[in-house]
Amino acid sequence: MKKLKNWDNKTWLSSKSYISQFNQFLKFRVNLNKNSKILDIGCGRANIISSLHKKYKFKNKPVGIDIVKNKDIKKNIIFKKIDASEYLKKNQSYDLILIKQTIHFFTKIKLNRLLNLAKKNLNPKGKILIFSLKTKNNKIPCFKKMRKNLEKSLKRDEVLFKVIKKNLKEISYTNFNFKVNISKQKYVRMIKERYISCLLNMNNKEITFGISEIKSKYKNQIKFTDTLKCIIFRK
Ligand SMILES: C[S@@+](CC[C@H](N)C(=O)[O-])C[C@H]1O[C@@H](n2cnc3c(N)ncnc32)[C@H](O)[C@@H]1O
Repeated sequence: MKKLKNWDNKTWLSSKSYISQFNQFLKFRVNLNKNSKILDIGCGRANIISSLHKKYKFKNKPVGIDIVKNKDIKKNIIFKKIDASEYLKKNQSYDLILIKQTIHFFTKIKLNRLLNLAKKNLNPKGKILIFSLKTKNNKIPCFKKMRKNLEKSLKRDEVLFKVIKKNLKEISYTNFNFKVNISKQKYVRMIKERYISCLLNMNNKEITFGISEIKSKYKNQIKFTDTLKCIIFRK
């Protein structure tokens, strides 16, 4: 798969309100304090752990890992450009391992390996939180070809959810909902920058055609709910 670079590049996923609502969501599910050790797998620009660190002033800076080193990664965390499974071989101990919108980059075998290693890297009372797009009735605004690719990817995610359930066994589920209100102009820019992996393999002609479809299909302001399924594992 081509590399994803613009996922959180000035999009709603890096907005102050998204990060603050997301961290509020975490607060009710994970017991965080200044002693907590956090690892964010596939951290992107590390907006989430950076904001957590500002709030909790952890004794150990949160660690964010990603195979892509973007330009403007947050500076107040420890960033490592490394494959997740490689990093986890170092055997550290974390209280929270966050895997947000990243599992779809893994094959079933690699995901199993990742989960086994993640469990080994977890403190006795630690938690793994996995977030992924909801697979049924997803509201992400799409043009036709984009929808087709997204649906295919969501079908694959359902298989990955089964892998997770089989591997982690004792898990609970909840949803994280964020109400998006974005101008059509901004959303068109996000599509141009291929912000989501179902756009990565499209050629420029397909993107241009898709944008004209979005322009005629949506009003100037696009509103929808971005829903993530959250899977919680506790040791
Ligand atoms: C959709 S982005 C999500 C970024 C961030 N977690 C968020 O929710 O805003 C997925 C990220 O996973 C990273 N990634 C993909 N495969 C990876 C791997 N094997 N190890 C570490 N990071 C990986 C990608 O480079 C990308 O930055």
